[in-house]
This record gives sequence, structure tokens and C-alpha cells, in this order.
Amino acid sequence: MGAQELDLLRVAVTVAREASSLVESSRSSAITDVDTKSSETDVVTAADKAAERLVRDRLAELRPGEPVLGEEEGESSAGAPAGGVCWVVDPIDGTVNYLYGYPWYAVSVAAQVDGVSVAGAVVEPASGRVWTAARGEGAWLDDRPLRVSGADRLDLSLVSTGFAYRPERRRRQAAAIAGLLGRVRDIRRAGAASLDLCAVAAGWVDAYAEHGLSRWDWAAGALVAEEAGAIVRVPGDGSDGLGAEAIIASAPGVADEFHTALREVGFGVV
Ligand code: IPD
Ligand code: CA
Ligand code: CA
Repeated sequence: MGAQELDLLRVAVTVAREASSLVESSRSSAITDVDTKSSETDVVTAADKAAERLVRDRLAELRPGEPVLGEEEGESSAGAPAGGVCWVVDPIDGTVNYLYGYPWYAVSVAAQVDGVSVAGAVVEPASGRVWTAARGEGAWLDDRPLRVSGADRLDLSLVSTGFAYRPERRRRQAAAIAGLLGRVRDIRRAGAASLDLCAVAAGWVDAYAEHGLSRWDWAAGALVAEEAGAIVRVPGDGSDGLGAEAIIASAPGVADEFHTALREVGFGVV
């Protein structure tokens, strides 16, 4: 453990930074070229597509032959062999924020081995901030090591979440979150899952939960949270009553209470 993860992290940071510069410099033209995907509110700009292309081209140079899973172009090949690296890319996480100029959006690049994140970079185009983590090596915001909050009471915890794009699904998600609202300090919905996970790592919120994310949304951010000391539950089999699609990151002092509360409000079945 160590050298390989740090090599992968250097590559992730390099390509995510380059994509971040492209995303920021092309914002004024990119937001005039917008398509929609799963619903009319699920947007994709020219910059999403160009940034993913840049990341794929650069990974092909720096890590030839390794497969890439990206939001805009899907999976580049049959996938990684057992023990091999797969790159997981969200070229702009928080595209709706990007469209409006709300600065909470990021380029997210992770390296996974057998579906487990081992290195990840989340770069914010608007501020230039760089969130990083390598498995077993820690997590950083720029050069500052990250540590989750010391929260130990859910009723005093600041909790963040996010919603899917399809209206019928977000109505169910909102009902579960409404059940949580009276049991926590407050709720935030900032609009970029990768950064919401990084915010747990920094102690800017105490816990985060969302249902129905794709792998590219969480692959880098979940590692940043975990390496900063969060208890992270990634999408899995759902036998814990939290649903196959829930991702949850919490400060250790509130993790059990948060998981229990999420089960009680029906979060796992939205
Ligand atoms: C979205 C954001 C949002 C989350 C959605 C994601 P996108 O990603 O991360 O915060 O609530 O579920 O799809 O579409 O901006 O890449
Ligand atoms: Ca995303
Ligand atoms: Ca995206």
C-alpha cells in the first residue's frame, strides 16, 4: 500500500486540474450549448463533453490501456481485469450549478481497483481548490490534511443531501428528508455530490446521505471522506435496510444514530 496509490493520485490530480481549467475558461460559451438527459432539468453542457474527452485523452497518454468509466461517454472497454485499475470520471459534477454560476461544482477523477476507490481528486474550477485522497495515505484540501467533525449528537448535526432529477423520485426522497429535518440541526442541499462528500471530510457538515448516485458522482469524494475519518457506506446489497443505492458519509460519533434515523424515515426505500 502506498506508492501505487500515490502514483495514481498524481495522475488524477494532473488530469482533473487540466479539465478544471478547461471547464472554467469555457463557461461563458459552454452554457449557451446545453442539452438535456434523463429529464428536462438534467442538463449537459458542451463543457461536460469537452472535459470528459480531455480527461480520456490524457489518461490514454499517462495510463495507456486502462479502462475509463465516464458520465458522458460510458465505459471505454470491457472493464478492468481483476486487480486492474479503472478510472471513474465525472467531468462536471454539479452541472446545474455550473449553468447558473453557483460556484459549487467540480471535476471528479478517481482510480478504482475491483470497484474500490484507491485514489481520487476533486477539483473546483471556480476557486481552484483541490481535494485529494489516496487509500491509506490520508485526505487533503490543497496542502491541508482533512479531518471529519467530532459531532456526537445527531440532533446537533448539520446534514447534507441531494436529489435525483426525475420528479417522482425526488418527491419520495424529499419526503424521507422531511422526516429527518426535525431530528437534526439543519439540512443543506448544495448540488454537487463529490463536493458534498468532501465537505464531510472538512467538517463543514457532520453527515451526508443521498440515494441513487452513479459511481462517477461518489468515487473520488467518498475516498476523501473515508480518508478523513468518516464512516462511509457506499451503494451495496441493501441488506442493512439502507437500500442498494444509498451512499452515506458521517462523522464516527453520529454514524450509528444517523443510519438508524435514515432507516426510520424510509430513506433506504425511496
Ligand atoms: C448531480 C449532482 C447532484 C446530485 C445528483 C447528481 P451532475 O450530478 O451531484 O448534487 O444530487 O444526484 O446527479 O448531474 O451535476 O453531474
Ligand atoms: Ca455528478
Ligand atoms: Ca456530471
